[in-house]
Amino acid sequence: MTAATGHNIDRELERFNNRMVEHNLTPTWAYYPELVAMAPPVAYRPYLWKAGLLDRVVGTAGELVDLERGGERRSFEVVNPDLRHIHGTTHTLGAALQLVQPGEIAPPHRHLANAIRFIVKGRGSYTAVEGERLYMEERDLILTPTWMWHEHGNETEAPVVWVDALDYPFNKLMQLSFFQPGASEDAGSRPIGFTSSRVGLVRPTWTSYPDEIPNVTYKWEETANTLNALRDEEGSPYDGILLEYVNPIQEGSVLPTMACYAQLLRPGERCKAHRQTSSTIHYVLDGEGYSVINGVRFDWGPGDFFMIPPWAWHEHANPGGGDAVHFVISDTPIMTSLKLWREEPYPEGDGHQETAETFAPLTWS
Ligand SMILES: [Fe+2]
Ligand SMILES: [Fe+2]
Repeated sequence: MTAATGHNIDRELERFNNRMVEHNLTPTWAYYPELVAMAPPVAYRPYLWKAGLLDRVVGTAGELVDLERGGERRSFEVVNPDLRHIHGTTHTLGAALQLVQPGEIAPPHRHLANAIRFIVKGRGSYTAVEGERLYMEERDLILTPTWMWHEHGNETEAPVVWVDALDYPFNKLMQLSFFQPGASEDAGSRPIGFTSSRVGLVRPTWTSYPDEIPNVTYKWEETANTLNALRDEEGSPYDGILLEYVNPIQEGSVLPTMACYAQLLRPGERCKAHRQTSSTIHYVLDGEGYSVINGVRFDWGPGDFFMIPPWAWHEHANPGGGDAVHFVISDTPIMTSLKLWREEPYPEGDGHQETAETFAPLTWS
């Protein structure tokens, strides 16, 4: 073969590849390096949103957004700049802040997306699931599993703010984003106490609870007591004292697509780096510290959100003298149930990454 012939073949092959693409065919030989990557080519970056920015937006949304005039919920998502097209905080999960003003009722609806709610401000508002009201206090966690009717009300004198997290981006990926608005009469009529009288340590003998995921409140006081009781244990080298919220009927994660955790990083604690196939969202409750994600340092404090993409090296540190506490949401159950779960410790040196730069968060400008 002459050089000229080789050159001609290259040109012909390139033309052939391009024509294949025009005909909606993919030449695997042209994309082979991408297809056989040793690490997944994750298409989005780690990111952090500061509390100052979020507070500002909550305040203005409270003044400008009227539930009657548009939308059933006064909420906004923390959207990864690489995932705006799917409104994702990660590729599977969306986190949002929601504000319910005194006297407001957010009408019932249901959707195929699973959701959790973690209260950050205010007490005494309620969420009703299938009509059963749960009254919520700061740092309580409640669930609205797939296709369950839910509505919210704030009968108190003060605004209530909570974190919503949904598997909505995952639903969209599955092309299964069902939603149904409803009226109060649709939304179920279970009385207060319906769940607690059926899934406690004593249970009725003549009937069983009708759902797989019970409508329980995970009270913060109990979670905080458990974190404290375990604070002198060694904990995880990668996550400190990390507790998972579990389903009291079936064990396992709280929802089929989402796991929730409470994390305590003790004064001076510096965790080692690892990476996982799950994506994770952290909401900081207490303490100032930092996490290094793929070599970039993210400084965090109370009220900040940050997220970690799949297979990103990450490590957390609490250099201060007080506790750092995070509420954490991950898509781990998707990965474990589909046998996609992998985890790896950072292989180099003392298990810590070099920090190449510090993330510059946005302020409201
Ligand atoms: Fe909802
Ligand atoms: Fe981790």
